[in-house]
Amino acid sequence: MTRPLQWIGLLATAIIAILLAVNILREPARQQEALEAYQAAAFANGSELYAMHCTHCHGAAGEGLGVYRALNQPFITSKDPHELQTIVQYGRYATEMAAFGVEEGGPLTPVQIYDLVTMLQTGAWDLVQTRVEAMGMTPTEADILAAEAAAQTVNIARQTVDSTALAWTLPVFVEHCSECHGDEGQGTADAPQLNNAYVRSMSSTQLAEIVGLGVRNTKMEGFSGRLSDAAIADLLALLQYWDQVDGQASAPLATEADIAAVNETGQQLFETWCAVCHGTQGEGGAIAPSLNDIPQLPVDFLVSRIRSGHNAMPPFAEANLSNGQLAVVIDYARTNIIGAALPLPSEAELAQGQTLYTQHCAECHGAMGKGVPDVGPRLVTLPPMRAVEIINFARVGSAQTPAIPSSTVSDADLRLIVAYLHSLSN
Ligand code: HEC
Ligand code: HEC
Ligand code: HEC
Ligand code: HEC
Repeated sequence: MTRPLQWIGLLATAIIAILLAVNILREPARQQEALEAYQAAAFANGSELYAMHCTHCHGAAGEGLGVYRALNQPFITSKDPHELQTIVQYGRYATEMAAFGVEEGGPLTPVQIYDLVTMLQTGAWDLVQTRVEAMGMTPTEADILAAEAAAQTVNIARQTVDSTALAWTLPVFVEHCSECHGDEGQGTADAPQLNNAYVRSMSSTQLAEIVGLGVRNTKMEGFSGRLSDAAIADLLALLQYWDQVDGQASAPLATEADIAAVNETGQQLFETWCAVCHGTQGEGGAIAPSLNDIPQLPVDFLVSRIRSGHNAMPPFAEANLSNGQLAVVIDYARTNIIGAALPLPSEAELAQGQTLYTQHCAECHGAMGKGVPDVGPRLVTLPPMRAVEIINFARVGSAQTPAIPSSTVSDADLRLIVAYLHSLSN
């Protein structure tokens, strides 16, 4: 071989080597691009499948309608994808979450379920909502009402939740939570009861926030850094289904005998223990808020607040207020104090309030005051917002939201909106 030919050969080899190296270096980027394109397609497809099969329970933006769970929450994006795949494919035993896999007799192929899971884990619910709206699949007011009505069915379904699996979470609870909340979640002077219907009525989102992030300025610190997502998800399930764990059903507050042993009337007990701060008619005062202009409060919520206290409200121990006395004073407060100063609107006025709410507030605060993620907070809360709070906020506004002048919504109309919102609290 001549010298020049040798050189050309060497050069050619070098060029090939460089080209190969460049290609090898570019490969990950190309794979990444391909993966992104694939995921974008999966997301788009997943959004459409979601619009067709899931919105009437989980809502257009994953916010959860009525009793159905919200999916727009951190523990869905961080869940193991196989776990989500399993839930959608096989459903959740004894709940309305049906099996969607074709092999289980459902409508979705494994690839379609993969697309749905990709979309769920992206967590880009604003994009999903846009797609759902464009497809005309946004749930109607009737869907939402049906979802609220389904509470009954879901509660029946809950009777058969796998109580053995829930019981496995109890030791986790005892290790991390019981020093404050008690071994069986019964509450202590340091922290409220968790094994009650009030906690079970909280949404998954609300519970995930409390347990994950904690409650500011209280001893309740967040556990998101200390426990795995899976452990937190198990704890949330325990909180939501505690009454299903064998031997853990909460006992009734007081027996007939406890109540018969009470010597005072409800009014006397209220005046002795509550009126100092809340006023004899529950009108409120300098220390405590009013109780007579909020809608009815559930018994469990009252028990929890009275036994555990909250902020400046002191806890009342059994040594001071027996279970029988507590039952009597709660009964009195529910019939004579709570909500006593609220007007009793007619059906027609409530319907008008609903129309006005839909016209002026629903865009940001969601249908039935359930809130819209990243747009406006829930207005139907527990404890409920007082009439004056709603009216003042609407009139004054805040840094994030403009005030609503009486030229847009008159005082009378605002009161009808409040009456409508209050009617949703029960
Ligand atoms: C008929 C109402 C209904 C429909 C339709 C429905 N779900 Fe559900 N879904 C539920 C209920 C009820 C639960 C809670 C089950 C339980 O208690 O564990 C649930 C739970 C879930 C969960 C688990 C959430 C958690 O907290 O762990 C996921 C994920 C989910 N659904 C996704 C979907 C997807 C995706 C679709 C559409 C293919 C869908 N669901 C359709 C009612 C529904
Ligand atoms: C150091 C004490 C402490 C520990 C440990 C603790 N908590 Fe709490 N927790 C509190 C206090 C205090 C509150 C009341 C906060 C408030 O005033 O709103 C609370 C409130 C809560 C609430 C809201 C209840 C309600 O009625 O508003 C939930 C749910 C909860 N804790 C769950 C847990 C779970 C689950 C664990 C274990 C992983 C845990 N907590 C560990 C002190 C604690
Ligand atoms: C020492 C004053 C004081 C006494 C006595 C007291 N409370 Fe309270 N109560 C408060 C304060 C302060 C709050 C507001 C706590 C908060 O910020 O969450 C409150 C809140 C409440 C709430 C929750 C209402 C809401 O919208 O937040 C209920 C219900 C309640 N009290 C009932 C009672 C009952 C029933 C009694 C008697 C057994 C009682 N309170 C005794 C101070 C008191
Ligand atoms: C353009 C969107 C928008 C509309 C329309 C709107 N709000 Fe709001 N509203 C918000 C936002 C955003 C917040 C939260 C702002 C903040 O916390 O500073 C808010 C907060 C509130 C709060 C305080 C909630 C809390 O948790 O403290 C009340 C009460 C309220 N709005 C009532 C109303 C009523 C009643 C209407 C209808 C007459 C209405 N809003 C219409 C955006 C809106």
